[in-house]
Amino acid sequence: ARSYSITLLPGDGIGPEVVAVAKDVLSLAGALEGVEFRFQEKLMGGAALDAYGVPLPAETLAAAQASDAVLLGAIGGYKWDNNEKHLKPETGLLQIRSGLGVFANLRPAAVLPQLVDASTLKKEVAEGVDIMVVRELTGGIYFGQPRGFGTNDKGEDIGFNTEVYSVSEIDRIARVAFEVARKRKGKLCSVDKANVLEASMLWRKRVTSLASEFPDIELSHMYVDNAAMQLIRNPKQFDTIVTNNIFGDILSDEASMLTGSIGMLPSASVGESGPGLFEPIHGSAPDIAGQDKANPLATILSAAMLLRYGLGEENAAKRVEAAVTETLNNGFRTGDIYSPGTTLVGCKRMGEEVLKTVESQSAVA
Ligand code: NAD
Ligand code: IPM
Ligand code: MN
Repeated sequence: ARSYSITLLPGDGIGPEVVAVAKDVLSLAGALEGVEFRFQEKLMGGAALDAYGVPLPAETLAAAQASDAVLLGAIGGYKWDNNEKHLKPETGLLQIRSGLGVFANLRPAAVLPQLVDASTLKKEVAEGVDIMVVRELTGGIYFGQPRGFGTNDKGEDIGFNTEVYSVSEIDRIARVAFEVARKRKGKLCSVDKANVLEASMLWRKRVTSLASEFPDIELSHMYVDNAAMQLIRNPKQFDTIVTNNIFGDILSDEASMLTGSIGMLPSASVGESGPGLFEPIHGSAPDIAGQDKANPLATILSAAMLLRYGLGEENAAKRVEAAVTETLNNGFRTGDIYSPGTTLVGCKRMGEEVLKTVESQSAVA
């Protein structure tokens, strides 16, 4: 049997709840395809701060780097919100993305027909939406220097950050996005703020010049403020979007609401080589943590992305995705995607229903 080592990083809040469910689905779908997993669970985020005093222990990063793929729940919570920057759970997340070199974050937002009613948008606007946001993940304002706190010439306290992109950082994410668009509908929209920001001016210049390597791709450019509006006005105009770290963060949360809930959106973060990092786009949802209310589908779909992009196990990935679709067809909904006429279930029960459908699949094309 093919065997892979998987590092599980449950994290904080609803993270452990959704990772537990996704782990079982991953195991079963793998087993049915003759794939075996060796799981090791490690601490990061607030859980690691409480146990070791750091948000990303060296042991966690080393384990992640040595494994075939990493599945992360979510990190963060009220308890650590006022910690200093280097002692924030979020800092641990940025460190592991950087440590694994996963510069390309793929965030698909597809409206499933079963969930059209869960979207806050009109049916005719949401129906059929299928967008892939390619977010640059290890550069930009999240990592740029100088950053910090200081004092201005009036003696006033200031906080400052720097948006920096180099040619090589722009080129590698743009190439990933062109390739992704090529496997989709061949349309790529690059989102920036090139009317104001130098980092965006360079971004647009590079993306434009790389387009000659991809003559089959229809490239367009849009300012981020317009893109935020167009995503709600007419989301079907988009196929693949490529954008920087912070715009990608914001636009992918916005795009999630087209699909009904942030609890549905998975992601895959990949680099040139080494293990990929797979995580739902949502956070630790402290408002519903510990109540068995979280939607585990984003993490289950992240496990499908792990199988596809992380391990090349396409058949097992399809099994997981088909099971999610079938579970929705069977009418099961967590609170965030509930609509009248469906069956309201908790996180665990949703997981059990997905497992049942994985089990009942005989073969998947
Ligand atoms: P959030 O995504 O955690 O929650 C936003 C809203 O969406 C909440 O009402 C929450 O209940 C709901 N929600 C999120 N995931 C859900 C799910 N699976 N099922 C049902 N409802 C869901 O964002 P936030 O409240 O801004 O942040 C909370 C904490 O999470 C913060 O500490 C933040 O830094 C952290 N965070 C972590 C990640 C990550 O680990 N990748 C991502 C975003 C935010
Ligand atoms: C996400 C989160 C993170 C980000 C935070 C928690 C650092 O919002 O994964 O989308 O901004 O990238
Ligand atoms: Mn985010």
